[in-house]
Amino acid sequence: QAPTTLRVLICDEMNPGNLDHDGFQIDYQGNMDRAETLRRLPQYDALITRSRTRVDRELIDAAGPRLKVIGRGGVGVDNIDLEYASLRGLLVLNAPESNNVSAAELAVMHLMAAARGLTRSDRKTRAGEWDRKFLGLELKDRTLGIVGLGRIGSMVADRAQGLRMNVVAYDPYVPESKFERLGVTRATSLDDLLGQVDFLTVHTPLTEETTGMIGARELARMKPDSIVVNAARGGIIEEQALVDALHSGHLFGAGVDVFVDEPPTPDHIFLGAPNLGITAHLGANTREAQERVGAEIVSRVLAALQGDVSKGA
Ligand code: MLT
Repeated sequence: QAPTTLRVLICDEMNPGNLDHDGFQIDYQGNMDRAETLRRLPQYDALITRSRTRVDRELIDAAGPRLKVIGRGGVGVDNIDLEYASLRGLLVLNAPESNNVSAAELAVMHLMAAARGLTRSDRKTRAGEWDRKFLGLELKDRTLGIVGLGRIGSMVADRAQGLRMNVVAYDPYVPESKFERLGVTRATSLDDLLGQVDFLTVHTPLTEETTGMIGARELARMKPDSIVVNAARGGIIEEQALVDALHSGHLFGAGVDVFVDEPPTPDHIFLGAPNLGITAHLGANTREAQERVGAEIVSRVLAALQGDVSKGA
């Protein structure tokens, strides 16, 4: 019997590295449109995506019986209907570590950009206004609050300590020993955290528990002139509440890399909000991260298709 070629489709932008693997055919087309993905999927044993492609019931149903593995090139799996995938016996894998440094660095970039009025100064200077009256904030000796002290949150803590910030975090799922090892003060509750910080950054997955976790009430608890960053997932910080806190002047500034619905529509409330730095879900978008993500997810998916999940992990 002739050996069967296992087929893998990569439908989102990434650096998939070498596509030549014995026994496999790997087809890569970044940004494949949904209709084409739905049409081609039945011919594949595995699908690899990033956050752009919604792996919902429609897509899983379109796949048919050949599909066995879904690989997510990145950390978050919130774009995948995990319950339905498991009902259909699909194995879902991610690449949980490859882009952590890039994500952490982007969060720090947003903190610094908001503290120094980068977007405001850029806009004014381009418009011919040489405004040197603006006074930013130093990070040194200020307190950064981190919600979620997982891999990315821990890296942000380390970078912030390098900038001589005090770091406090709230994460009920992390043991005391990790706080001690990182030299991070443990907040006993979200409210406890919010009351003591000057800057806030969230690094949790998007779950029922974290959706809308920072809303109007929570922002109001923060000190006046605080800075808030969301480079994790749209909706962890409520969009309307964030915009209101910027318009009222309660917040000094904010930075966001993520939206509830991506890409945002041209009339999205963030686009007219003052002192808000925006990037287009670029946390994982560095050359280094995408090289690592591509290599990690392809190797994990191929290993899983060969029946050995641990090999790629
Ligand atoms: C992640 O969850 O790792 C990122 O959102 C990946 C991506 O940019 O697609």
